Amino acid sequence: MNKKISLFVVVMLPVKFLLAQEVAVMSAAQPTIPNKSDQIIMHKTSNPLPENVRKNLADQLTKTLGTILDLRYQVRMAHWNIKGAGFIGLHLLFDQMAMELDGFIDQVAERVVILGGTALGRVQDASENSVLEKYPSDVFADQDHVKTLINRFSTYVKHLNEGSKFAGKLEDSVTFDLYTMLSGAAQKRLWFLESSLPVATK
Ligand SMILES: [Fe+2]
Repeated sequence: MNKKISLFVVVMLPVKFLLAQEVAVMSAAQPTIPNKSDQIIMHKTSNPLPENVRKNLADQLTKTLGTILDLRYQVRMAHWNIKGAGFIGLHLLFDQMAMELDGFIDQVAERVVILGGTALGRVQDASENSVLEKYPSDVFADQDHVKTLINRFSTYVKHLNEGSKFAGKLEDSVTFDLYTMLSGAAQKRLWFLESSLPVATK
């Protein structure tokens, strides 16, 4: 080895080693959970729907997934904090509603993945993607919980109907049917809630 080469080896090798170590430390420091700017990662699939259609549907369904996750916890808030003469009936009704929403969360998340997308079902995703207003922490009376949930279910139904129109426009009958089913179930819950209030004529 001539002098120039041996000098290069002596000077540059430790630098290279240190740089490699620094890169390794930096990669290890990257968050394992992606941050707020997450995009849905799409996967290859033999599903014949065009990729842009699948991506648009996955984006819409992600908003729905966040909304149902949020709604499920809003219903739980009512289930836990309700007080008043209507407690037991409504406490049990809210329990049933939350369990029903659990099943819908799974169906919507799986539809995202069936379309080649990635299901974003973390609490943080729900907070970012939900179309609902935050549930208040100062509501206690039975009828006030019912009124608050009526407001949330009404917004939820509107969102589902928009989703169903969107899926229809993109000619995905399966997602359209999913939205139609969810909207039917939500409208039924809206009826249960409204029927829990004193009779009101328009
Ligand atoms: Fe409970």
